[in-house]
Amino acid sequence: MIVALLNQKGGSGKTTLALHLAGYWASQGRRVTMIDADPQGSALDWSEQRAREGLPRLFGVVGLARDTLHREAPELAREVDHIIIDGPPRVAGLMRSALLAADLVLIPVQPSPLDGWASAEMLALLDEAHIYRPQLIACFVLNRCAARTVIARETAQALADHDPPVLQATIGQRVAFAVAAQGGRLVSEMEHAGSATAEIAALANAIEGITS
Ligand SMILES: Nc1ncnc2c1ncn2[C@@H]1O[C@H](COP(=O)(O)OP(=O)(O)O)[C@@H](O)[C@H]1O
Ligand SMILES: [Mg+2]
Repeated sequence: MIVALLNQKGGSGKTTLALHLAGYWASQGRRVTMIDADPQGSALDWSEQRAREGLPRLFGVVGLARDTLHREAPELAREVDHIIIDGPPRVAGLMRSALLAADLVLIPVQPSPLDGWASAEMLALLDEAHIYRPQLIACFVLNRCAARTVIARETAQALADHDPPVLQATIGQRVAFAVAAQGGRLVSEMEHAGSATAEIAALANAIEGITS
């Protein structure tokens, strides 16, 4: 399965969720390759930081911020169980290419009503991709949620009315995600990050639920 994390908004959690999903599936014994399709290369940086810290390699990270992504990804996918694409920050050829490659598109959004969740431009690209690939699945993932706040509930309500739908599994606003990233780690490798770790497992299970 090829999973792409896409949202033209920087800071929505594409890299964080991509790394953690890749790490979760690798820990389950799946063969995973991550494609860093962001020219900024933050997933590659994470992987480098991990090596500097002397931590074991969990999955391969390949830098492929090219419009030819959709040609390369299926080939890479033959070698592994899951390809995770960490998407680019802008709506451009690169995002179109990622949309053509993916079986599943996850759109991380911060649950703020002021924030919006995806640009009309990106949703138009998604519609376009659906024409060529009707089997393509897309959903929103609420990231950095404060579950009990009214704002999160309102946004969940707004998203439920939308197409693409919003995944039931959500990820909280948890400092462990930021701290782990800086140290080339995953939250599952941190102390006192059981809730964050459990959220990632629940997210991965929800994804498996809709794709199997
Ligand atoms: N659920 C979360 N809780 C706390 N911090 C988060 C969470 N998700 C992402 N972050 C932090 O927010 C920043 C942006 O996230 P990132 O995954 O890099 O977004 P993107 O790849 O979409 O630009 C990073 O510093 C990251 O550690
Ligand atoms: Mg990123």
